[in-house]
Amino acid sequence: MQELENIVSDAEHAFKAVRTLPELDQVKARFLGKQGVLSELRKGLAKVSAEERPILGARFNSLKTEIESLLERRKHDINTEALQKRLDNEKIDVTLPGRKQSLGGLHPVTRTLNRVTDLFSTMGFSVASGPEIEDDYYNFTSLNQPEDHPARSMHDTFYLEGEQHLLRTHTSPIQIRYMEEHEPPIRIVAPGRVYRVDSDATHSPMFHQIEGLWVDDRATFADLKGTVREFLRRFFENDDLEVRFRPSYFPFTEPSAEIDMTFKDGWLEIGGCGMVHPKVLRNVNIDTERFQGFAFGMGLDRLAMLRYGVSDLRLFFENDLRFLSQFSD
Ligand code: FA5
Ligand code: MG
Repeated sequence: MQELENIVSDAEHAFKAVRTLPELDQVKARFLGKQGVLSELRKGLAKVSAEERPILGARFNSLKTEIESLLERRKHDINTEALQKRLDNEKIDVTLPGRKQSLGGLHPVTRTLNRVTDLFSTMGFSVASGPEIEDDYYNFTSLNQPEDHPARSMHDTFYLEGEQHLLRTHTSPIQIRYMEEHEPPIRIVAPGRVYRVDSDATHSPMFHQIEGLWVDDRATFADLKGTVREFLRRFFENDDLEVRFRPSYFPFTEPSAEIDMTFKDGWLEIGGCGMVHPKVLRNVNIDTERFQGFAFGMGLDRLAMLRYGVSDLRLFFENDLRFLSQFSD
């Protein structure tokens, strides 16, 4: 009998000593398997006397049940331990700092564009637009710049489809498209992307302009100067801002001027302007005896450059987030 008691505590120790189910299976075989300790015991039962046999038989059965339930308990414990271990490993440390979701932001030139159109809206201008792929007529000819006109050489661009189509070199073709569709009085601004074969610190091959056009029965050069200066003072939030109108030439305006602002030690040209040339008005069937007007075209990237104090305009288009993210709020 003593031997039988030992078997139970041996099994209990052996079960406790293992940590995994496969190990437990091996130990189980040692006690409950075909060649296990209990099988050997049962064989021994055949040898005891007839009156002892039922007592020992009953004892044997309760022993077996005990060992089986010890085994089940250990199996359960091992499973619970494994689960607990997994839960511990996968635990979320809520005290760790979170990973921030970055939201992105508007490009500084887009911000500038929105700001400029907002300001012109408050000054009574509506917003128009036109295609980036233009044809020769709208980009040049209708603007009093026939083929072979020397001013074309300053607008070298990218041609498509047998030179009939091109990437527009300025936003001025929108003037023509708008006047073809609308009668004076006209007061619009038209922002957009334009293209030229250009590249240095103040020139990019793709850049942005905003065109302005005001046509009615009395718009004068003084109105032009007043409008541009007022816009720039509002844009830069500076009532003493210096603006210079430098006499210049455009085939589609007469007289014409360049608009300059102070930059570093000198001046930076930010746009061109002038009174709309009568030939341009006649190209869109506007009566030059009744109507006159002015137009201007400013470089939005140059405005952004001045407002943000950037020294090389091409930085705006290199898509370096270290640069661009400085401008989002
Ligand atoms: C014109 O493009 C005329 N269409 C402007 C105009 C409109 C005159 C209406 C009269 C009436 P200009 O080539 O000067 O003009 O260009 C206008 C402005 O665009 C320049 O003053 C400059 O601010 C900007 N600009 C020109 N080329 C580039 C470039 N490659 N990169 C960035 N900005 C440029
Ligand atoms: Mg110019």
